[in-house]
Amino acid sequence: MIPPHTIQTILETARIEEVVSDFVHLRKRGINLIGLCPFHNEKTPSFTVSPAKNLFKCFGCGKGGNSLKFIMEHERLSYVEALRMLAARYNIEIEEKELTDEQKEAQNEKESLMALTAFAAQYFSEALLNTEKGKAIGLTYFKERGFSSETIRKFQLGYNPDQWDEFTRFALGKGYQLTYLEKAGFTIVKDQQHYDRFRSRVIFPVQSLSGRVIGFGGRIVGQDTSRAKYINSPESEIYHKSATLYGIYFARNAILSKNECYLVEGYTDVISLHQAGFENVVASSGTSLTTEQIKLIKRFTPNITILYDGDEAGIKASFRGIDMILEEGMHVKIVLFPRGEDPDSFVRKNRQADVAEFLHTQAKNFITYKTRLLLSEAKDDPIQRAQLVKEIVQSISLIPDQISRGIYIKECSNLMNIPEQTLINELNKLLRKSFEKKSLEMTGGGIADLPDLTVPSVPQPIFEISESEYQEKDIIRLLLNYSHEVIHIHHEENPDVVQSVKVGDFIIQDLVKDEISFSNPIYQAIFNEFLSRQNEGFLPDDQYFIQHPQEEIAQTAVDLLSSPYSLSKNWVEKKKINVPTEKSILAEAVTSSVLSFKLRKVEKMITEIQRQMKVAVNEEESILLMNRQLFLIHVKKMISETLGRIITR
Ligand code: CTP
Ligand code: MN
Repeated sequence: MIPPHTIQTILETARIEEVVSDFVHLRKRGINLIGLCPFHNEKTPSFTVSPAKNLFKCFGCGKGGNSLKFIMEHERLSYVEALRMLAARYNIEIEEKELTDEQKEAQNEKESLMALTAFAAQYFSEALLNTEKGKAIGLTYFKERGFSSETIRKFQLGYNPDQWDEFTRFALGKGYQLTYLEKAGFTIVKDQQHYDRFRSRVIFPVQSLSGRVIGFGGRIVGQDTSRAKYINSPESEIYHKSATLYGIYFARNAILSKNECYLVEGYTDVISLHQAGFENVVASSGTSLTTEQIKLIKRFTPNITILYDGDEAGIKASFRGIDMILEEGMHVKIVLFPRGEDPDSFVRKNRQADVAEFLHTQAKNFITYKTRLLLSEAKDDPIQRAQLVKEIVQSISLIPDQISRGIYIKECSNLMNIPEQTLINELNKLLRKSFEKKSLEMTGGGIADLPDLTVPSVPQPIFEISESEYQEKDIIRLLLNYSHEVIHIHHEENPDVVQSVKVGDFIIQDLVKDEISFSNPIYQAIFNEFLSRQNEGFLPDDQYFIQHPQEEIAQTAVDLLSSPYSLSKNWVEKKKINVPTEKSILAEAVTSSVLSFKLRKVEKMITEIQRQMKVAVNEEESILLMNRQLFLIHVKKMISETLGRIITR
């Protein structure tokens, strides 16, 4: 159980822009931030974050909510898991009673694994920094590799002692369960014996995007060729290697600000580059690049530069992986290191400015590089050259952007000395093929089954919305946005008197006085809640509803708080003004909104009376209805006049 006041603290501390920035590249637009929605595929950003309202909203797919909602959706966590994740991010302590055995059991696997990896990272770090053997073996090794104390601390580097099961025994003694020690890969169980997987190795913890340790790599110290150089944590509930990039947590901000991401192969490359001031670097850690990893980088930048230490055969083998990057619409450059050097060794041997210069001048566009490399291999062999054209055009065809494709076609035509048109023909052939394939996948049938995309489909309302839906929505929107703002209103009966009143109090009083209700049940529910809280002497604000436990209410609040506000044409045309902010004309906006709502209600009553008049059974009833109608028409006229005055004033 997380106590309510802690939940409150977490929700108040977790600024939406910070939480979202952990996962989405945001740019400033006006008072909001925008970015590409992580919940659906889009090319132009419709994902909006409002720091002022502490919420996010995607106008493309409709998802929206507070930080907690974002984490739940994005990380697919439960309510409690998401709260814990935010608490961890902001170092908010969740004070819990000592867990009973059942509760311990009940704690879900992910949390247990996370707790264990954090514990292990701490243990390895202390073993490195504070034990004799750790210092003599591990720390000396890292220092020899040129890692500073600060770097060692930052990357949480560690050491697993060379005893068979020292860590396992220690963890068991602290109450960590053997099942989790096995699942997280710290302990290998064989013939009833336990031993440490990482024993006698220096440790590289792998951090998730949000900085929690989710896995480990362990390296032998020195040159021992009888054991694998590195061993790594296995896949687990918390460590999905195909979706993880080593260093991403430390690189995130630099990738954003440099608008470029260096991709290297190993742990030590990341650390050395980072230490030398090139912080926008991540590693695929020895595995081949996956689409998930590419998409992870793409959240922060469209530009990838791959730093290669291999030979040309190795580079050629990675061409398939690079095609996947192109397919994501990203720009790929590659840098080759001198034979025998990897980024780590190169950085150690050269001054920072020279490294920067090297990276800058050596970076070659991937398509150009691929063309050159294949050309040099094909020489004048016509068959090889034909094959080469196919391969290059294949890569180009994967680039989603037509203009970029055109540029590459031109460049390759020059390099290969082949007419542009020949390449274009080849390209079109490939594009057509891939289009047909995609259509088939989409429809499960032939091209003929494709819907006619030229006819825009008009969404048909599936239910009748009430005639006052628009006005009701506007009132609730104003209530949510401005309930605590003070406006100055002329007294209804005595216009010389100006009263200062909070928007919330004004709207609530005014609607209650005229006994007006909402047709939309959710709006009514929100209004009722305003009313009852107000009666208790507490006027709710936007956060109260965004964090509302009733999902429908929270969702509606988010929608209304983030709906882009536009002044009605009336305002702009009649007032001949530069579009003012709503806040600057709040009193008018509120009164006109309330009046419009009432006007709508009166019109509805009039229509209803006219319907009754048609079926009136006797003269008496007709006259009654007629009088009532006259009265309502009078009211309608008065409201219209007042409304007109407000708008034209
Ligand atoms: N790797 C691995 N298992 C191995 C070898 C390598 O998981 N047996 C991964 C590690 O993530 C390693 C990366 O592949 O960092 C690159 O391997 P390599 O170039 O051999 O190692 P370096 O990172 O250069 O390590 P060092 O400089 O310590 O030799
Ligand atoms: Mn190396």
